[in-house]
Amino acid sequence: MSPRTPDFKLALFVLASGLAALAVIAVTQQNGSAPAPAAQPTFVRPRHSVTIRQPIQQPRVETGKTDPQGHPITVSCGSCHATSAPRPDTRLASELDEFHQGLQYQHGSLTCLSCHDASNYDQLRLADGRGVPFPEAMSLCAQCHGPQYRDYSHGSHGGMTGHWDLSRGPRQRNHCVDCHDPHAPQFPVVQPAFPLPADRGLKSTSTAAPHHG
Ligand code: HEC
Ligand code: HEC
Ligand code: HEC
Ligand code: HEC
Repeated sequence: MSPRTPDFKLALFVLASGLAALAVIAVTQQNGSAPAPAAQPTFVRPRHSVTIRQPIQQPRVETGKTDPQGHPITVSCGSCHATSAPRPDTRLASELDEFHQGLQYQHGSLTCLSCHDASNYDQLRLADGRGVPFPEAMSLCAQCHGPQYRDYSHGSHGGMTGHWDLSRGPRQRNHCVDCHDPHAPQFPVVQPAFPLPADRGLKSTSTAAPHHG
């Protein structure tokens, strides 16, 4: 023990003088001419953005022909509709006897022209007649489905991916039509059913069963 005592004292001395030096630096900085900052600097992370997916493009119709480069030739909706009279009472896909035959349509008792703009088939329309570009269809859904749109805006309808805490990363919201087909928006009713009994002898009882082969 005793041979070490001088070393220990030396160490104490070094430590003490170091602390004293630090204190002097702190005091001179406080009394220095530079004004002290008004508030403690806080650590701010940038807030990331919330984006809403835009799955809807401007729809066009394929003619079945291709250009010399082999790209399909498409026409705008207006290229037929600008020259034909709109039919405001069409409310069933089965009433379409010439065109748009495969359309699945079941949306309350809305007519097609509740949403499509009779004066310009290349856009949609709001209830007061103002036109809406196709990619902004959500404002149209919101007009008739206020409660669901309100829930959506609060985050309790429609889901999201990414970060809840926007200081950690961006968030992405789904568009209504990511889940609801605008022409047949209702979700199919799910039938309650008993799960099949778990049996190792039966290969495909559970959807969670691993795939073999
Ligand atoms: C090749 C011509 C043609 C093109 C292109 C076309 N349509 Fe039509 N569309 C028709 C015809 C014909 C009808 C009349 C209904 C029928 O088939 O009897 C119709 C009916 C409709 C209707 C029902 C209301 C009404 O006025 O009859 C809507 C809505 C509609 N089309 C929307 C569109 C949209 C949106 C596009 C673009 C994606 C489009 N159409 C492109 C030919 C066309
Ligand atoms: C609730 C509003 C709404 C109603 C009602 C509606 N549509 Fe649409 N329609 C849309 C929206 C939104 C799109 C764009 C969808 C997309 O691009 O995913 C669209 C796209 C279309 C298109 C082009 C893309 C496609 O799916 O072929 C045609 C054609 C069309 N509608 C015809 C009709 C016809 C015919 C009716 C009536 C039988 C009708 N729509 C009723 C909202 C509506
Ligand atoms: C002009 C008014 C109007 C517009 C615009 C409209 N809807 Fe609807 N929607 C209705 C009506 C009316 C019903 C039928 C409600 C019922 O039967 O109880 C309905 C039904 C629905 C349903 C099914 C509700 C259920 O339980 O059956 C969904 C989902 C829906 N709409 C989504 C949408 C989406 C998504 C859009 C935008 C692309 C849209 N709607 C645009 C009026 C509208
Ligand atoms: C992530 C998918 C998803 C998105 C995005 C979404 N919904 Fe829904 N929506 C659902 C489901 C699931 C139901 C419930 C179906 C059921 O209960 O049978 C529903 C139900 C509805 C109904 C029927 C009434 C009700 O509340 O049960 C309406 C109307 C509706 N949604 C409108 C909208 C509108 C408008 C938007 C966009 C602002 C939207 N939804 C976005 C999945 C979605």
